[in-house]
Amino acid sequence: KSLKKYNTFGIDVRAKKFISINSEEDLYEALTLCKDEDIFILSGGSNMLLTRDIDATVLHISISGISVTEKTDNTVLVSANAGENWHDFVQFCINKGYGGLENLSLIPGYVGSAPIQNIGAYGVELKDNFVSCEAIHTKTKEKRIFTKQDCNFGYRNSVFKNELKGTYIITKVTFELTTAQHLLNTSYGAIEAALKDKNCTKPTIKDIAEAVISIRKSKLPDPKEIGNSGSFFKNPVISSTAFTVLQNTYPTIPSYKVDEEHIKVPAGWLIEQSGFKGKRWGDAGVHSKQALVLVNHNNATGKEILELSLKIKETVRQKFDISLETEVNIIK
Ligand code: EPU
Repeated sequence: KSLKKYNTFGIDVRAKKFISINSEEDLYEALTLCKDEDIFILSGGSNMLLTRDIDATVLHISISGISVTEKTDNTVLVSANAGENWHDFVQFCINKGYGGLENLSLIPGYVGSAPIQNIGAYGVELKDNFVSCEAIHTKTKEKRIFTKQDCNFGYRNSVFKNELKGTYIITKVTFELTTAQHLLNTSYGAIEAALKDKNCTKPTIKDIAEAVISIRKSKLPDPKEIGNSGSFFKNPVISSTAFTVLQNTYPTIPSYKVDEEHIKVPAGWLIEQSGFKGKRWGDAGVHSKQALVLVNHNNATGKEILELSLKIKETVRQKFDISLETEVNIIK
């Protein structure tokens, strides 16, 4: 089966076998059926680059369902099954008046993979509202509940990308959201500007979601129109001393302070300065409005995108002495 439709980069590789998982029962059954075979867990396919055919049984986790538990006067617990589309889930919450996820509007992918890389945008990360998730062990089939602490979240990072990589399949995620006195995050410059533009002095969660959606639409390519996986690299963190040296040569370099000794530098800026923005080699290219996003103009192979990413990495290393780390999960 071709996986082109199942990864947002639109890479045309094939899977040996493909099983759609629509319930926990389906998952238990499939794990029993595949107990001596290699399996490959596929969620929204929005953060991966496939560079080869998958010689394994692909389990496509599409378990749907959302449930809400009232908690206190001001908060609710909302649980979503792993196969829910992330953006639709966020919209569901906003329409019900539940605050907390609005800055994470329009992020591609499914709920189940959101904790793996602690998705984040516009000043908010998944971990800020996360309570727990349920996951099933691929071998023992035991169900385990992971608290926030168990997940060990970091910048685009969690235990599911490290010690437990490939060990558990997340089936459900629970968030604590606000029903009143929402803690709005408008700290990100572009959100502030968008709200000001609309003369919005007392923004609602919906106003923020709309601002985020318009900002994302203006910078990030829609995977339905042009294949991509969002930011290809993480924003590198460098020492304050290295940053001062860079700033002497490049006075306009943007930066965010991490702590006294560390500064985060936008990879998009480094890549743009290295001359890659909007360029293309065959069908593999760099987005014209956001250099951190690599794109498949139509029929690029995963290997071509990977080669382009290596070329970018090498150029940035030579020019800035900074080593970029990939954010996207590369299936080699
Ligand atoms: N910039 C450039 N040229 C570019 C792109 C960016 O100079 O081509 C500069 C911008 O001018 C700005 C800075 O870099 O000063 C930051 O750019 P932007 O606000 O677009 O955000 P980013 O740091 O490139 C990160 C996340 C995004 C997230 C946005 C907003 C990472 C790896 N990426 O991007 O997440 O949407 O912030 O919060 O942290 C994703 O993970 O897939 C993703 C899209």
